[in-house]
Amino acid sequence: MTVFIDIGALEDIPRQGARVIRTAQGCVAVFRTMDDRVFALDDRCPHKGGPLSEGIVHGDRVTCPLHNWVFDMNSGTAQGADEGAVRTWPVRVEQGRILISAELVSRPRAA
Ligand code: FES
Repeated sequence: MTVFIDIGALEDIPRQGARVIRTAQGCVAVFRTMDDRVFALDDRCPHKGGPLSEGIVHGDRVTCPLHNWVFDMNSGTAQGADEGAVRTWPVRVEQGRILISAELVSRPRAA
């Protein structure tokens, strides 16, 4: 069973914006879409490490700020290619609070 931890209010992230949280697994970007869905992805583009949290959110996709790869935030896959994927994490919103998988916070990074 996945245990979730409260990381803050949904309102703290602007629509089409992101917030970076530091976790045991590295930096994770938590995105808020225009229609208030949230997604959590590693904040590191699999291409050359661009900060996805600084990318442009459009629908349920985010465009990397460095070389414009477009990622589907549901799956983390790069659009139109099997060139790469970014890891996604369980996240949800309950009563205006953002909850992420406790696994992210507690489990040490795999070597
Ligand atoms: S680093 Fe993200 S597209 Fe190049």
